[in-house]
Amino acid sequence: MVANPKGGSGKSTLAVHLASWFARNDEIVCLGDLDRQQSTRYWLSERLQHLAPIRHWDVSGDELPAAPKECTVAVLDSPAGLHGKRLKALLNEMDKVVVPVSPSRFDMMASREFFEELSGTKAVRKDKVDIGIIGMRVDPRTNASKQLVEFLQQFDLPLVTCIRQAQRYVHAVESGVTLFDASNIDPVDRLQWKPLLDWLVKRR
Ligand SMILES: Nc1ncnc2c1ncn2[C@@H]1O[C@H](COP(=O)(O)OP(=O)(O)OP(=O)(O)O)[C@@H](O)[C@H]1O
Ligand SMILES: [Mg+2]
Repeated sequence: MVANPKGGSGKSTLAVHLASWFARNDEIVCLGDLDRQQSTRYWLSERLQHLAPIRHWDVSGDELPAAPKECTVAVLDSPAGLHGKRLKALLNEMDKVVVPVSPSRFDMMASREFFEELSGTKAVRKDKVDIGIIGMRVDPRTNASKQLVEFLQQFDLPLVTCIRQAQRYVHAVESGVTLFDASNIDPVDRLQWKPLLDWLVKRR
């Protein structure tokens, strides 16, 4: 699951990239979208036939249904504002939760609260789910990004990687693809994603 209660932190961008990376790596992937805005669902409906297939996982009911049996990887995008009972219930169902945080004071303030909430839940305390933090839209030349990295390093939860701010993410997602759907991915982007992909495939 990709989660952060702060709107616009990069959840859907991360979720579609993860789904397409796994699909490109021969996994049978399904993608669910808990957000009423249905951005990820819409992205999926626009996805071209010749690309590595990603299945739709219908998560529209009140309870989270099991992912389709044939799927080897399930990716779940979550809405802004996710917290409390709903968050707890979802954490019980997940292996890994990825939390993107963008370099802004408001995002950091909201994330601090979220990390505290996560650390206080049973699933996390009992080590039943792994939480990984991602610095999202990071531009190492800016002070805001340096502050973000310093901020994220103070928590017990691991800072898995930082992903740079680049228009190519915006353009790709708008066109129904991801950077991983292109045959040649920029080596800088590849390097930035690698720690996250390694962290995700690492067995618990
Ligand atoms: N690495 C990046 N570089 C540049 N722009 C980015 C990057 N990641 C995300 N964005 C842009 O930031 C905006 C918010 O991203 P996204 O929609 O993925 O966030 P979200 O957390 O899903 O938002 P919401 O809470 O509304 O669902 C989008 O316009 C997206 O294209
Ligand atoms: Mg979203």
